[in-house]
Amino acid sequence: MKVRLKMVSLFFLCFFVTSVQGAEKISFHSSLMYLQNNIHPVGTEKGIVVASPSQQNPDYFFHWVRDSALVMNTLLDVYLSDGHQISETSLLSAMYDYVDRVKFSQYQSGFEHLGEPKYYVSGYPFNGPWGRPQNDGPALRAITLIKFANFLLDKGERWYVLENLYKPVLPALSPIKMDLEFVAQNWQQQGFDYWEEVKGLHFSTAMVQRKALLKGAELALKLDDAYAARYYLEKVKDIEELLKKFWNPQKGYIESTIEQTSGVWKSQLDISVILGVLHGATNDGLYSINDLKVMETARRIEDVFANIFPINQAETGNEAPAIGRYPEDSYDGYSVNGEGNPWFIATFAMAEYYFALEKYASAASVDSKNYRLYCALVSLEKCQVYTNDKPAFIRKIKEGLRAKAEGFLARADFHSDSEGHMSEQMNRYHGFMQGARDLTWSYAAHVSALLQKGSKD
Ligand code: NOJ
Ligand code: NOJ
Repeated sequence: MKVRLKMVSLFFLCFFVTSVQGAEKISFHSSLMYLQNNIHPVGTEKGIVVASPSQQNPDYFFHWVRDSALVMNTLLDVYLSDGHQISETSLLSAMYDYVDRVKFSQYQSGFEHLGEPKYYVSGYPFNGPWGRPQNDGPALRAITLIKFANFLLDKGERWYVLENLYKPVLPALSPIKMDLEFVAQNWQQQGFDYWEEVKGLHFSTAMVQRKALLKGAELALKLDDAYAARYYLEKVKDIEELLKKFWNPQKGYIESTIEQTSGVWKSQLDISVILGVLHGATNDGLYSINDLKVMETARRIEDVFANIFPINQAETGNEAPAIGRYPEDSYDGYSVNGEGNPWFIATFAMAEYYFALEKYASAASVDSKNYRLYCALVSLEKCQVYTNDKPAFIRKIKEGLRAKAEGFLARADFHSDSEGHMSEQMNRYHGFMQGARDLTWSYAAHVSALLQKGSKD
């Protein structure tokens, strides 16, 4: 093992030297382009987002509700961030197609089965065996569609919104209302997690369910559906009570699943918790970006992966560790009998998280209760600077957080190919990519981290 590690480091060093000299391989532009290539590719219906173009080993040529909602959400964010990277016409046409496909798929599944995670590229529900229901799907989809509805309302398109997105009537037949009603009625039900493997109640699912209902209540009010708004807000309160149970004070981190009833045993230390925060936090005090519990969980996740993946032990430059889903993972991108690897979406989640945390670090938010954790996160040795010169301390923390976030971007860049293509995973020993190629979510996660950074390079 020692020899092997040495070889790995040497190999990495050579590659790293060439990679620092050259320009970055992944860019906002390349990731956005590859992302768009996976929206309605040849052989699919309009509005379909394939998880990957790979049709065998593994076959990811399907429309996953979760992946698609996240991808379309990112596309909207790209447009909303300044509008230059994508024209309004192409954004609107992609969104209208997506809305139509959502309606079709919801209708095919029926209200009771909106937890279906996976659809054929025709829009019909997948009918093979799968981990279902996955109750994050309708919530993530509602979050994306609500953002779109608000955008249209600002443009004066109230009629389209009422007709096609949120009709304030029951039974709910319009896409947003249908998803919100489903979330409100089913949040207590067990389902499968983001990784489609274990059944129970999941932190990330509950986080996005809460956000969907909060944003849904705001939209309902705008559309004169006050009764529904009140109902959604009641459920928000209930979900908040559930969410509090995920913090495990003995372990010192937020657990990904509680009340697990099937699937493998796990430590429950899982990047899905950070994803849940990125996708679901509304930064109003409950598991906000700069909540100590969230920060502590991020620190523990980084530590565990820094130690278990050989590629993270190789001496390199400013790269942060490559991050996986959870330490006990055995899905290698092809089969579950393998060894888990780092994933691009997990590594980008850390980048996005630290860019976000940098924004929140301020003289008001860094205090005597949390400054040590900030020091630990950015490996600042002279932590007492805090008491001597607070402005200097905040500056150092912000610089440190940004550098850390950049390190995760550099890590992903290092493992991408020469044209910035990214698959699902990178091998834990040698670092080459594996699993589904051109994973759409990998690109969305990259773009989303860069939007958080505030740069489109
Ligand atoms: C494919 C899933 O999408 C992945 O998350 C999972 O680990 C494997 N199947 C095994 O269930
Ligand atoms: C496996 C991942 O675990 C799951 O989250 C994802 O939805 C599917 N692959 C499709 O990308």
